[in-house]
Formats: sequence, C-alpha cells, structure tokens
Amino acid sequence: MAAAVNLRNLTIANITPNVHAINSQCGDLRLKYILERVVTHLHDLARETRLSTDEWLTAIRFLTEVGQISSDVRQEFILLSDILGLSLLVDSIDHPKPKGSTEGTVLGPFHTLEAERTDQGGLISNDTDGEPLLVFCTVKDTGGNPISGAEIDVWETDSKGFYDVQHADRDGPDGRAVLTSDESGDFWFKAIVPVPYPIPHDGPVGKLLKVLNRHPYRPSHMHFMFKKDGYDPLAALTSVHSALYLRDDPYESTDAVFGVKDCLVVSLQKVEDEAMAKKYDVKLGSAFLTYDFVLVTAEAAAKLRRQKAEDAMTELGRKVTFINDLPVPDVD
Ligand code: BEZ
Ligand code: FE
Repeated sequence: MAAAVNLRNLTIANITPNVHAINSQCGDLRLKYILERVVTHLHDLARETRLSTDEWLTAIRFLTEVGQISSDVRQEFILLSDILGLSLLVDSIDHPKPKGSTEGTVLGPFHTLEAERTDQGGLISNDTDGEPLLVFCTVKDTGGNPISGAEIDVWETDSKGFYDVQHADRDGPDGRAVLTSDESGDFWFKAIVPVPYPIPHDGPVGKLLKVLNRHPYRPSHMHFMFKKDGYDPLAALTSVHSALYLRDDPYESTDAVFGVKDCLVVSLQKVEDEAMAKKYDVKLGSAFLTYDFVLVTAEAAAKLRRQKAEDAMTELGRKVTFINDLPVPDVD
C-alpha cells in the first residue's frame, strides 16, 4: 500500500486523494485509471452541488428501480445511458469514423440474434398496415470498392411503432432480417416505411424524462448492422451499426436518445419508373429508400482511435501508454 494512505479523519478536502491512494493497489492499470476518474468526478459532483443525503438516496432508489425493471428482454440501464447522451458519446469515441465513411449511431436495446436470413428482395415485415417500402443499398470500402459477402442485420418497428420483441404474444421474429451483400456490394429488400415511436417510458427512465420535461420519441428510422471480417463493426455496444432517419420527421431534431446525424438522414423517394417497378416487383409510386454505406477497415479504425486517444491525453497534459489498445496515462 502506498505510504501516503491515511484513512482516518477524512474531510471534504482530503477524502479524494485518500480514496485514490487505497484504490491505487489495483493491478489492472486501465481499471485503476477509470476508477480514479469515476471517484474524482463523483466527489466533485458532491462538492460542487452540495449534494444532500436525501438527494443521494433518491438517486440510489432511482438506480435500484432501473436495475429491478431490467430483465432478459428489457435493459433499462441502456435506456438510461441513451437518454443521458452517454451511448452516443461512447460510440463516437470508440468507433471514430474517417471522413467519407458511414457514421455509427445509437444501437438501442432492440437488436436480437433471432432474425432470419433473407434473400435479396425478401420481405422483412409482415405488417400489412405499414406502407410498403423498397430499400436498395450498397456497401463499399473507403476507396469506393464494393464489399461483397457483408452480413447486414436490419430491423425496424411495425406500423404502430413497436419492435417484435415488445409484443408479448408474438409468434417469432418480424420486422428484422439478415441479408448478404452481393458481388456488386448491393443488398435490397422490402420493408415498411418507418414511423416515429417512443422509447419504453413506463419505467424509471420514462419518469426521469417526464421530470426533465422531455418527450420520449425517436424519429422514424431503420437500423443496419454490418459484419465483415477485417472491417470495424458499425455499432454502439460493439458492432458496426448505423441507422437511417427519414427527412422531415417531426422528431428529426429532438431525438430522445441523440442519434440523428445529418449524414444519416435520407429523403424517401417514389418508384416512378415502370421498368424499375417491374424489376423489383413493387407497385408504381411505392416508397423507395436508397443509401450507400461506406465501411472502414478495422485497422484504419484502430489507428484513428489511437490517434484520437493520444490527442485527448495530450490535451489533459498526461503522457500515455496503451494497454490492450486502450490508453492509460502516466505509467512509469
Ligand atoms: C432504438 O432505436 O431502437 C432505440 C434506441 C435507444 C433506446 C430505445 C430504442
Ligand atoms: Fe429503433
């Protein structure tokens, strides 16, 4: 134990360095660094707000509720991270994107591993109340070369704004599929036009939004997750994930989870051409969405991540070492 540790007679002024001192015995240098920052910021929060015991207990009760409502099919902590902007922030830090590549965004809790593999042109939604939508996309590398054989997980809500897993009486997956890009990097499928929907707000996170005078809505969007060996997965909470948002949605600029980026906003088009309608077997005038995704290699993403970490540490005035590719400052 470091010689300077004195865990007696601690005060507002000296408790922080003493907690750091006792925690500094941790052998995992990255964890030790993260804990040092957590303790610093928590202690500063208490000092800066003159936090009352009642307020802290309220926070503890709130976090307890967040845990209690969470289950295999409901992740309230992810929702909390989402509405506090932390999910978007962590994704932006951990998956920096070079100019010209497709940005990632908030994954949310509704991706599942049960989507069925679907051929090109397959129908991913059985909701007959939804407006039919033809989706045609390409996936390329940053040099403009097609990426074939990429696995693309796609998911969207039904026309009422619910994901399949939110229906207790569902028969199986719906509104989701896994496709594979062809040799031209193309993938296409039939879906329904996405609608805005509220994130689950019947729990503690919903109560918090209400107190904050915020609405729980997400603008209309469709999720895309890409997997291809050698490429950086596009997803917050670990895979390459992105989403496309429909232009002129009422919630385009007030997404409850901060996921909208201009480069991911698309205008819906109409299938105006008879030959095209025939080729893709859709009605003339039906809605059409198209987008070119650009993936970055895992190597380029790792290089950029490291560069940005070095810059951030330099800005903090700290000398950095990398352990498992993650920054740890001031290691002797
Ligand atoms: C979603 O887009 O599926 C989502 C994102 C964050 C919270 C809830 C849902
Ligand atoms: Fe969603």
